[in-house]
Amino acid sequence: MSSLGEDLLVTVNKLQDLVFNTIGNDSLDLPQIVVVGSQSSGKSSVLENVVGRDFLPRGSGIVTRRPLILQLINIPNDRDDKSDTEDVPSQYAASGTSTQRDWAEFHHLPGRKLEDFAQVKKEIETETARIAGNNKGINRQPINLKIFSPKVLNLTLIDLPGLTKVPIGDQPSDIEKQTRTLISEYIAKPNSIILAVSPANVDIVNSEALKLARHVDPVGRRTIGVLTKLDLMDHGTNALDILSGRVYPLKLGFIGVVNRSQQDIQSGKLLSEALRSEIEFFRHHPAYRNMASRCGTQFLAKTLNTTLMAHIRDRLPDIKARLNTLMGQTQQELASYGNKQFSGKEHRGSLILQLMTRFASSFISSIDGTSSEIST
Ligand code: GDP
Ligand code: NA
Ligand code: MG
Repeated sequence: MSSLGEDLLVTVNKLQDLVFNTIGNDSLDLPQIVVVGSQSSGKSSVLENVVGRDFLPRGSGIVTRRPLILQLINIPNDRDDKSDTEDVPSQYAASGTSTQRDWAEFHHLPGRKLEDFAQVKKEIETETARIAGNNKGINRQPINLKIFSPKVLNLTLIDLPGLTKVPIGDQPSDIEKQTRTLISEYIAKPNSIILAVSPANVDIVNSEALKLARHVDPVGRRTIGVLTKLDLMDHGTNALDILSGRVYPLKLGFIGVVNRSQQDIQSGKLLSEALRSEIEFFRHHPAYRNMASRCGTQFLAKTLNTTLMAHIRDRLPDIKARLNTLMGQTQQELASYGNKQFSGKEHRGSLILQLMTRFASSFISSIDGTSSEIST
């Protein structure tokens, strides 16, 4: 279900298992992905596309009114199911026809497993209204949602309320300041990858997303610019300048996407169809067809892959050092048993040694040695 890619999924999950079985914690410390931007810029749509599943409330109004902390949790696949191989990756399969046994759990509904993702969406709406009211109010108290699936990376994604300038409904007069502070808190963490979402039909100079991101990430090291609504630009205009990086410098660059429109949402257009029309849009557009392979949702997911792998590569020296220490300790411990009778401890020690050796020889060399590009 994660459109972040199967290869990355397999590599990282194996690595995570091995590190967990040896060092005993999640030393990979994967970054959290935070989506920021102004109201209705398409944040929830982008996040949903990255996850590859319909489950977020979206719309033209103020829909996201509390932070949503979405934890994707990988569970073992107990059935080797290759049945969902079509021309579209399985993660884009329609939620109703999916054969996966993914489920969701809300922190505020302990012990309840939701398997119907339409119901997940409804619950987000209900729970938003319960705390933030029915009249456009925004509340900083997060909704915590976990999605369990064999097809996701252990990763945290955060959807945030958008910036609004003019208070409406129940919003306090300082609504802009409040949301600005809220967003800044989430993106200030050095471990956050910022998806700075700007709509292409608004002048990029006025992009709230980029202003916010620049504040916490001045050199643009961990910000990915996402340009939505390319389909809504005035005829005869295009965003080539921005997409090619000539307007605003970001190390990770700008990626143009076309999400589902309000009408698409109302008519129930599937994620899989939306993905196909997005590909068609870039392939046939006179301005973008030469860079079509560097546009769209799939390329965004690929860029996230690359970014995550680069992060892991940064973490490897530290993990290696900790493993070496642990290996030394284990060897000493084993030696101290001498010829005494076989003990459970000894068995555990040799198991750790085996795991470490496997880890060191296969993963470190494979990840260390190859390029940062993990194909999707
Ligand atoms: P958010 O408020 O930033 O989370 O934005 P949403 O994801 O809720 O989207 C706001 C509205 O814009 C919805 O009606 C979406 O259908 C629409 N929208 C988002 N992205 C695009 C896009 O790329 N093209 C078009 N035509 N509409 C979009
Ligand atoms: Na919205
Ligand atoms: Mg939203």
